[in-house]
Amino acid sequence: METSFHNVLTSPAKAVAVILLVLLLNTACQAQLTSTFYDNSCPNALSAIRTSIRNSIAAERRMAASLIRLHFHYCFVQGCDASILLEETPSIESEQTALPNKDSARGYRVIEKAKSEVEKICPGVVSCADTLAVAARDASAYVGGPSWTVMLGRRDSTTASRTLANSELPSFKDGLDRLISRFQSKGLSARDMVALSGSHTIGQAQCFTFRDRIYSNGTDIDAGFASTRKRTCPAVGGDANLAPFDLVTPNSFDNNYFKNLIQKKGLLESDQILFGGGSTDSIVSEYSRSPAAFSSDFASAMIKMGNIDPLTGTAGEIRKICSAIN
Ligand code: HEM
Repeated sequence: METSFHNVLTSPAKAVAVILLVLLLNTACQAQLTSTFYDNSCPNALSAIRTSIRNSIAAERRMAASLIRLHFHYCFVQGCDASILLEETPSIESEQTALPNKDSARGYRVIEKAKSEVEKICPGVVSCADTLAVAARDASAYVGGPSWTVMLGRRDSTTASRTLANSELPSFKDGLDRLISRFQSKGLSARDMVALSGSHTIGQAQCFTFRDRIYSNGTDIDAGFASTRKRTCPAVGGDANLAPFDLVTPNSFDNNYFKNLIQKKGLLESDQILFGGGSTDSIVSEYSRSPAAFSSDFASAMIKMGNIDPLTGTAGEIRKICSAIN
């Protein structure tokens, strides 16, 4: 006698199996982001975001760097659910005051502005989470970096976690193994981590983040580079003084970051450690030689990062404004 799935199961078991299968398929479909998500519901959403982001970066070029960093800090905490944009209330413990973000993460208002432009044309349709993902791509493209097709369909969280923001985001003091494992725990490889760190080709860091390194007299730092940096970052005080990551082309998204690492001119300890005799040296060398490899890997890694635990389907909500839940 034939023992197929069909006749082995009794009727109630069959019904349960079918329900489970439908649920499973449903979850799989919901978890899927697509590039065409707003094609019918808000066809002009992406161009409205782009115009708004371009205006903000035209007014302050560093904002491009700040938005790319915001994309990282938004996806690493609770997934890419825009929890980072929520401000403190009695029921929300804002991530904005967590150590890695406080007085450092920027661009919240720029996202709010872009979202408000989209609300004008399609109220209640486009999430803050997707607005941020599109903004980071537009920021990269605007300053000469790679562009990519943004996957869409994320929804916004109704919660935030300062505790997670304090524990999940990497520190400039992390060693290589720690950095690799932090990214791996989010589904990103060491290669993704190196490519993404390449965005330290633009933007700035505060003195307190690199002081120990420039005053270390270590063998892993170029002496001329250290003394240049000391001019604006004293041994005591001036904690918030800014320095560009890339001395040569601080405003263009290029592969100079990797050339700097090879010359021992990485600004943070967590930058230089990527070319410090460990397993990522060969990736740094490759990107320093091939802008094309860096560019395409950076784009893929940003898409991958944008896929970290999104809220989809009916989970979460579409916020009206990004700084507060509805
Ligand atoms: C690998 C671990 C990483 C560490 C330890 C790290 C650490 C830092 C630190 C300490 C700053 C300076 C913040 C300040 O002084 O206010 C910074 C800035 C920045 N980070 Fe990272 N970062 C890492 C990875 C990334 C990734 C994955 C991205 C994006 C894909 C990114 C993008 C940026 C950008 C663009 C800036 C400049 C921001 C601005 O000028 O406003 N970083 N990072």
